[in-house]
Amino acid sequence: MKNMIYYFSGTGNSLRTAIGIAERIGGAEIISVRCNAENVSAENADVIGFVCPVYEWDLPGTMKRFAGNLKINPNAYIFMIATYIAIHGKSFETMEKILSAKKAHLNYGMALHSVASQCTAYDPFPPEKLMIPYMEKKLHKISKEISERKYRAYPTMAWLTRKLYSKLMTPYMKVEKEYDKGFYTDARCVGCEICAKICPTQNIIIQKNRPVWNHHCHGCMACVAYCPTKAVQFKTPEAYERLNTVISKRLCLPEKRKRYHNPFIKASDLMIDKRYVNCLHSIDR
Ligand SMILES: Cc1cc2nc3c(=O)[nH]c(=O)nc-3n(C[C@H](O)[C@H](O)[C@H](O)COP(=O)(O)O)c2cc1C
Repeated sequence: MKNMIYYFSGTGNSLRTAIGIAERIGGAEIISVRCNAENVSAENADVIGFVCPVYEWDLPGTMKRFAGNLKINPNAYIFMIATYIAIHGKSFETMEKILSAKKAHLNYGMALHSVASQCTAYDPFPPEKLMIPYMEKKLHKISKEISERKYRAYPTMAWLTRKLYSKLMTPYMKVEKEYDKGFYTDARCVGCEICAKICPTQNIIIQKNRPVWNHHCHGCMACVAYCPTKAVQFKTPEAYERLNTVISKRLCLPEKRKRYHNPFIKASDLMIDKRYVNCLHSIDR
């Protein structure tokens, strides 16, 4: 039995989900979408999972590209878990479209409520104290259903979200490449390079002992959340200021704001692109 789970994660919710499922379905190879899809094929897999956050009511672009390039066994049992806070949008429909071009389909889709990671827009919510036990409990249910190869129709985009998508999301997509122009480091940067090593889009390089962002950022917040000295700062980029929308006006990173990351996932966990998880308690708690 070969179980493969492919994940994208910035602040650890999705990696924790991938590991939690692997632990309970008898083990799985867990692969980051930073890998070259050609080298980590799922052609011989019996179970294939995709786990990632929802970004801007859709899949993160890196997950779209990776899944598009991945060779898969169309007869495998295929599941997708999207971690999110409120609106999963068209993320499952996008994945189903990618799979159907490979003559495969999602057999199981579940959106998993988690803690909001975008700390350049708002404080983390709902409270971690409530959400982490909730997510862990939900992982049991999801894993049981996946182990039993249950069919679960994937969630589709709500009527209102569909109506609002082009109005609210399209302007942001147009300036997406500008987002990381807001990041810089202050004097607390010690040149540890953690930000570059964990960036899921491999967008950060180190020059003169400091991170430089290279404009293919998803705004995942890994660099902000895992910076050990809180040296990574954010100032609203001009392109976003010009958007002048409710959300773009909120962009900021006050010193006091909590930089959330999933408590089970350390920076070093996000540096591992391929791992085999074979039983419960195989990650540090
Ligand atoms: C750039 C960005 C965009 C997001 N967009 C959405 C969204 O459209 N809908 C939603 O419900 N949550 C959204 N979120 C919240 C994340 O999906 C959620 O916190 C997720 O669990 C983060 O996963 P991770 O910890 O694996 O990175 C967004 C977060 C970020 C950083």
